[in-house]
Amino acid sequence: MNVLIAHYSMLGHTNRLAEAIMQGAKGEGATVFLMRIPEILTEEDIKQRAISEFQKSFKEIPICTQDSLIEADAIILGAPTYLGNMCAQMQYFLNSLGKLWRDGALVGKVGSAFTSSGSQHGGQEAALLSVHTTMLHLGMIVVGLPYTFKGQLRIDEITGGTPYGATTIAGQKGERMPSENELAAARFQGKHVASIAAKLGKK
Ligand SMILES: Cc1cc2nc3c(=O)[nH]c(=O)nc-3n(C[C@H](O)[C@H](O)[C@H](O)COP(=O)(O)O)c2cc1C
Repeated sequence: MNVLIAHYSMLGHTNRLAEAIMQGAKGEGATVFLMRIPEILTEEDIKQRAISEFQKSFKEIPICTQDSLIEADAIILGAPTYLGNMCAQMQYFLNSLGKLWRDGALVGKVGSAFTSSGSQHGGQEAALLSVHTTMLHLGMIVVGLPYTFKGQLRIDEITGGTPYGATTIAGQKGERMPSENELAAARFQGKHVASIAAKLGKK
């Protein structure tokens, strides 16, 4: 069973969740491919944002292609929340899938999403739903983060984690990295998605 984790990350938070999701899916026996969604900003744009050591290592991750999607049994998409939506990089990539949509190439594959936002109530769930909407148009079977992951009920500390998918809160300047609870949510989601894909794959 092949699980593809395709994500975009500017500062590293979504990437950190992606790695935890990978751990969870591997724990379920899946073969996992961690890939990145191509950049659409110019080098100049990126320089103006004064970013970052992280971008160097992010660029070493293989780029997700349309073939990567076709080969996967489950596709988990990670996109930071931008203006209450998935980031433009992910939207642009998904908007290029017209042929796969027409061919029904992703119909019946398991889909799931995760995100990072700057603030605690900055639109994480809306961003995840925006990915889910596209997945449904592509005929995918959308899977979230069930409440059997008890960590999403915590109120003793600030935490991400929603029934729509794993999340983290990055802080206004990206100063907060994912907490242990948020990473546990991501591992849970990875395992959960892989287990559902395995069940669907059984004849
Ligand atoms: C163009 C833009 C729009 C953003 N919009 C939001 C937003 O609507 N809500 C929010 O909480 N954070 C917002 N942020 C902050 C990002 O969500 C934050 O930088 C991101 O989660 C960090 O993830 P990364 O480290 O994976 O890049 C925005 C950032 C940018 C660059």
